Amino acid sequence: MNEDFVREIEATMVYVRNSFLMPMCDASRVTEAIGVDEMRHMNWLADLIVKRGGKPSMEHRVLDFGGDELKGQMEMQVSLETEAVERYKKHIELIGDADKEAVGVLRHILDEEKRHRKEFRMRLEKMGK
Ligand SMILES: [Fe+2]
Ligand SMILES: [Fe+2]
Repeated sequence: MNEDFVREIEATMVYVRNSFLMPMCDASRVTEAIGVDEMRHMNWLADLIVKRGGKPSMEHRVLDFGGDELKGQMEMQVSLETEAVERYKKHIELIGDADKEAVGVLRHILDEEKRHRKEFRMRLEKMGK
């Protein structure tokens, strides 16, 4: 769960930064709103971690924003969401019946990551891949 938490920190930072760089447009607003979702995910995961006696890690990787162009940033954001979807699926499977509360939270997050990916993909397609 600490791995999930750190990945959410990274997604939050990438989306907040990119939303400021994007020209005032629909993509920027969507990126900003999704950045807020990722921060909520951070909070839910931190809550699960602390309740289980752990401490949320802050050791994030070097951030890759996808460059300075809108298209590259959107492609990076789609790939971050895909990575998140795969990771949550794997972790849900790994935890299984051992922790029903955690699995419930991870399932909820997984649904949101799928929606995020769809939102980013739609914008990317509109830009003409
Ligand atoms: Fe997330
Ligand atoms: Fe997401």
